[in-house]
Amino acid sequence: MSQESSQPNPSAFRPESSKLYGEFASWWHLLSAPEEYEEEATFFHQVFLKHSKIPPQTILELGSGGGNNASYLKAHFQLTLVDLSEGMLAASRLLNPTCEHLQGDMRTVRLHRLFDAVFIHDAIMYMTTMEDLQRAMETAYVHCRAGGMVLLVPDCVRENFTSTTEHGGHDGTDRALRYLEWSYDPDENDTTGVMDFVYVLREGKDKVWVEHDRHIFGIFKRADWLRLLKEVGFEPKIVVDSYNRELFVAIKPKDTTP
Ligand SMILES: C[S@@+](CC[C@H](N)C(=O)[O-])C[C@H]1O[C@@H](n2cnc3c(N)ncnc32)[C@H](O)[C@@H]1O
Repeated sequence: MSQESSQPNPSAFRPESSKLYGEFASWWHLLSAPEEYEEEATFFHQVFLKHSKIPPQTILELGSGGGNNASYLKAHFQLTLVDLSEGMLAASRLLNPTCEHLQGDMRTVRLHRLFDAVFIHDAIMYMTTMEDLQRAMETAYVHCRAGGMVLLVPDCVRENFTSTTEHGGHDGTDRALRYLEWSYDPDENDTTGVMDFVYVLREGKDKVWVEHDRHIFGIFKRADWLRLLKEVGFEPKIVVDSYNRELFVAIKPKDTTP
């Protein structure tokens, strides 16, 4: 039996209304478990210590999702976690009850507070236009103390994007999830790619069902990332991690006015 997707077009995609971050947000840690993040969170911790011009103590994470990175970083920093999805914030609150959680859109949220550093992990992938990417960078800029830094961790840039298929999942106490994730780029001339997910969800001993979920993500050239960061006011550089991802470390210059 074939089933055609009835998903909306890319420009209409809203992450908070996706199945993963909407109705199935409470299943997030069965798809992506905190223990899978230890290695990269340890690396990010070192990047903050090495590159910031001021000792980082407070960090704002935008698009913090289920708080998996936060579950490690909170041992070293005071974290404020912001996400669009109330369901994902609820999942993160269970894991990180001592962290501050706030609902907000990384393109528009204004907390009227400064942090030593701002962190945007894979959630930055949901910026699908150059305008939205720039707005997220501006949000990071206005919340970052002078001399502080912003760390952006996209899964890819245009130059190193490849189509991938991944699978995984975990067992909980009374439910379990397995997934297949297929990322591809139907049109190399635009700034978006498609991630099709298939989830197999199991509740109790024998209630099992399958869900399809389509996400749209952004793909931007390295030079566009660097140009936008400079236009917003940062001094950016690239750091490559052990997964060969290009991380953008952007320093907010110290105020030099007398
Ligand atoms: C892959 S999850 C993040 C997982 C996270 N790295 C962790 O450690 O658990 C992506 C998150 O980005 C959030 N998101 C997408 N667009 C957003 C936006 N415009 N503003 C804030 N959060 C956004 C989604 O709600 C989702 O929780």
